[in-house]
Amino acid sequence: MKSLALTSAIAIIFPSIVWATYLWPVPQSFKQGRVELNLDTTFHIEAPEVAYLQEAVHRYTELIIHERWTPVQVPLTPTNKTSPIARRTLGALEIIIADEDKKLEYGVDESYTLDIPINGGVATLKSETVWGTIRGLETFSQLVQARPERNEEGENMYFENEEDYDEGNYGFEDLFIPNTPIRIEDSPKFSHRGLMLDTSRNFYPIKDILRTIDAMAYNKMNVFHWHITDSHSFPLKLQSVPELAQEGAYKLHQKRLVYTKRDVRQVIDYAYKRGVRVIPEIDMPAHTGSWALSHKEITTCTGVHYLDESNDWSKRLAAEPGTGQLNPIHNKTYEIVEKVITEVSELFSDDWFHGGGDEPVYNCWNQDEDVRNYMKKNNATGVDLLGIFLQKELDMIHDSDKTAILWEDPVTNVHLPISKDVIMQVWINPVQLAVKKGYKVIASNYNFWYLDCGHGGWK
Ligand SMILES: *[C@@H]1O[C@H](CO)[C@@H](O)[C@H](O)[C@H]1NC(C)=O
Ligand SMILES: *[C@@H]1O[C@H](CO)[C@@H](O)[C@H](O)[C@H]1NC(C)=O
Ligand SMILES: *[C@@H]1O[C@H](CO)[C@@H](O)[C@H](O)[C@H]1NC(C)=O
Repeated sequence: MKSLALTSAIAIIFPSIVWATYLWPVPQSFKQGRVELNLDTTFHIEAPEVAYLQEAVHRYTELIIHERWTPVQVPLTPTNKTSPIARRTLGALEIIIADEDKKLEYGVDESYTLDIPINGGVATLKSETVWGTIRGLETFSQLVQARPERNEEGENMYFENEEDYDEGNYGFEDLFIPNTPIRIEDSPKFSHRGLMLDTSRNFYPIKDILRTIDAMAYNKMNVFHWHITDSHSFPLKLQSVPELAQEGAYKLHQKRLVYTKRDVRQVIDYAYKRGVRVIPEIDMPAHTGSWALSHKEITTCTGVHYLDESNDWSKRLAAEPGTGQLNPIHNKTYEIVEKVITEVSELFSDDWFHGGGDEPVYNCWNQDEDVRNYMKKNNATGVDLLGIFLQKELDMIHDSDKTAILWEDPVTNVHLPISKDVIMQVWINPVQLAVKKGYKVIASNYNFWYLDCGHGGWK
């Protein structure tokens, strides 16, 4: 009986009508009433003095004041009744965090509970970690709407241009939260919600990378996968091998387009404060044509057309224009690879490191006489050479105290015995293939998730 009474009490506070919500991503559990609650003109967010939190509170306070969002959609549930307006205003949002010091890493608790009472005066946002708080602040900011300004005819006015809109005159006036009381219990379905940006084929100025990270935070994504290098350019300036960027970065108006260590630290710091990890990818042994501009001696088949006159795909020298592949049998190759991995691992604070490993083209290695001799002498195949290269690379990543990620190719297109603690990023095969072999995977199938080349294809 007791529990029945409780159920009906909740049913009164949260009627079963589900009004249109505009929250993104949609929360796991969302209960709402139908009363409009105005924000008090002295509204504020109360937060403990925790690293990263004060800045987040400031950011979202500014966002709430300046965004002044008004939905233009027709409500999903048509109604003739206007919502009643709550008698009291919302004075504050109080933040409560169980563990204030948890660092941002894979699997960190990002759950939160947000309670907005009708008449209580103070809303609460509870979470286990500051990273959950940041997700909850995003949700709270999405709930706040502005009453539209009306013209003389009493019609709503919408601003098409930002210039028409005088930000200076606004505070918390005319801001409200529809459909209170609200209770949201939320946690992410996936611990890894990534976005990859390729800065080798296209160079992006730092400000564009930061805007990308802003967009990720608004969508509650938490991993920025930075595909820094490829055959097209090598934009990362490294101290231990400066020539890679000096020769391999794109040049515009006599200036190299590079990322300095300071740039990289700025990106990492900016992302961390928004709950976004930054994982570097240095793709190898294929996709390394740009390395050849300073170190031709450690690569094979560089600087040639990727197909021969027959246009026969099986005779290709690379998967796309821009040939060049690291030579797997020369010691010098590994000396340079080790410098790159060591320095990049130190620069990027996240525990994960992406080592590439996709699209090896054995025919490219076949072009090199030393490689051919080695293969003959050791009865080795192209796949064997790939295995030798990747094992050395993975050992270096491991020695730098990082968890390695590889593209799936070495375990799904061929069957190399790569250690099961390497995470496989799936792009071309069904996810099950790598999962069945016992790997943890990042699902990013190119048919569904790539935004280049039109649904992943070139045709
Ligand atoms: C709104 O009011 C009209 C006229 O009274 C009525 O016909 C209609 O059913 C009402 N709609 C809803 C959703 O209640
Ligand atoms: C390459 O390194 C291996 C192992 O360190 C060594 O045995 C070999 O002699 C080296 N080869 C050359 C050509 O220096
Ligand atoms: C060379 O390797 C293949 C497998 O890749 C094997 O079948 C063959 O017996 C080997 N030949 C010699 C001479 O070792």
